[in-house]
Amino acid sequence: MNTLSSPRLTDLLERLHGEADAADREHVEAMQAKIAAPGASIEALAMDLLADERADYRATYRDRADNFLAVSPEYGRFLYAIARSCRATRIVEFGTSMGISTLYLAAALRDNGGGHLIGSEMEVSKVARARANLQAAGLADLVDIRAGDALETLKDVGGTVDLMLVDGAFSLYLSVLKTIEPWLKPSAVVLGENAFEPEYLAYVRNPANGYMSLALPDEGRGNEFSVKLS
Ligand SMILES: C[S@@+](CC[C@H](N)C(=O)[O-])C[C@H]1O[C@@H](n2cnc3c(N)ncnc32)[C@H](O)[C@@H]1O
Repeated sequence: MNTLSSPRLTDLLERLHGEADAADREHVEAMQAKIAAPGASIEALAMDLLADERADYRATYRDRADNFLAVSPEYGRFLYAIARSCRATRIVEFGTSMGISTLYLAAALRDNGGGHLIGSEMEVSKVARARANLQAAGLADLVDIRAGDALETLKDVGGTVDLMLVDGAFSLYLSVLKTIEPWLKPSAVVLGENAFEPEYLAYVRNPANGYMSLALPDEGRGNEFSVKLS
């Protein structure tokens, strides 16, 4: 048995995904209604969200302090599998929220024999909830969730990075990637969840910047998979 399939973690994740569905239902339905409106599209909605964030990303996420905005169970298992396959021992996460994605990644670290996950979250109430969830999972010893703006808190991650999950403010993806880039190992994997920022996509898809990058088949969620080649 691995850590992810242990009853302790499966029970916790089932509960948290349920809480996330309930907390985010209204928000998700509002987004779905916008996409379904005549002449609308997921790409246009993403551009609207980016424009709102660019005006004040802190206010945008303060308004979402009670929302999980978490990865799906399928994407969580994908995170676990990628972290196992690259034998990650140092993982960085931009955007921890209540720690659902963190639980999948920390489980992989445990099964890789140990390591460090450096998370980042600017909503203090979410930091407390994420820490409590990691404690409940028995994975807190592997994780350092840094409270505050990732543009500051992730400047020094203490060593080379095997895997990065980019899942915070949509409008900061490229800025945060560039903050972490000096720490990325050759062959490091960078996963952009909801990577809609045009500047981010142009950067990772330009071979001159040293990545191989492609969109994952994901029904418009904007999941980008990038490998730092050198
Ligand atoms: C999509 S949610 C993350 C979901 C989480 N990865 C999961 O799957 O459970 C994005 C989170 O990023 C946080 N965030 C946004 N911009 C941030 C920043 N500049 N620094 C730190 N956290 C940020 C938000 O408060 C929000 O909780």
